[in-house]
Amino acid sequence: MTLRAHILGAAAGGGLPQWNCGCENCNLARKGKIPSQTQSSLAVSANGTDWAILNASPDIRQQLAQTTCLHPVGLRTLPLRSVLVTNGDIDHVAGLLTLREMQPFSLFATGAIHDVLSQNTIFDALNPSVVDRQTIATGQSFDLAPGLSATLFPVPGKVPLYLEGDDVKTDLIGDQTVGVQLIAGDSNAYYIPGCAVLNDDLRSRMDGADAVFFDGTLWRDDEMVRAKLGKKTGKRMGHLSMSGPDGSLAAFANLKIGRKIFVHMNNTNPVLRPTSAEKAEAEAAGWTIGQDGMEITL
Ligand code: MLT
Ligand code: MN
Ligand code: ZN
Repeated sequence: MTLRAHILGAAAGGGLPQWNCGCENCNLARKGKIPSQTQSSLAVSANGTDWAILNASPDIRQQLAQTTCLHPVGLRTLPLRSVLVTNGDIDHVAGLLTLREMQPFSLFATGAIHDVLSQNTIFDALNPSVVDRQTIATGQSFDLAPGLSATLFPVPGKVPLYLEGDDVKTDLIGDQTVGVQLIAGDSNAYYIPGCAVLNDDLRSRMDGADAVFFDGTLWRDDEMVRAKLGKKTGKRMGHLSMSGPDGSLAAFANLKIGRKIFVHMNNTNPVLRPTSAEKAEAEAAGWTIGQDGMEITL
């Protein structure tokens, strides 16, 4: 058994280009000058035949069409065994609505995330007689697919945007935002597409891993403000940035990790331009900038 991870979507919510955005990157992507990227999702397998999808993005229909290993192998027989969602954000759950049509799979999430789904009755389109919703506590190991086990752990984050009240705590530690440890045979990887703060607990957890797929939302915290696209900083959105003294490049610098791969990049992030200085800086620090269709075998 060896872990195979296939990036279905490397972008954050909105994708690249985002429908309403006229920023430099979105315009370049529309012109075909830089690669477009779909929204946040990772497919994983231990045997290459049974797959789990981590986060169901609004682009899942296109992602499945483009990914041969997930195509039907019979009339209504799929390699897809399960879907796991790491928070209730729209970019991670809206794709569940595409997965209706009486197709059996297991849907894994924490209790808090399942509560969000069950309070939104549109998700009842996933018929409970075929889609088995399993509540997973943090720290509890379970099987995502044959030979592929997973454990969820809390990651500092916030409630989904559509559930925010007046007073928003952006680095809550609980089960509304989780990371996933993946184990297949001797391979050990982490998937953390959203992280507000990289604390010592997370750093020591990940140290020594074969691979980490990590929140690459923004290059700098005030990137969207500087681009005049909005008022929100990365911190306000519950995302740690790549650069700067508190950024992920610095925070990972002393960890021993086999492969470090950024996922969940916002469309403003300069690392999405193949020739940018920021991409070169991230690569010099040992990072790979995830791309749609990229496959990593451990
Ligand atoms: C995020 O990652 O911050 C969210 O996906 C934002 C959103 O809901 O659009
Ligand atoms: Mn997101
Ligand atoms: Zn844009």
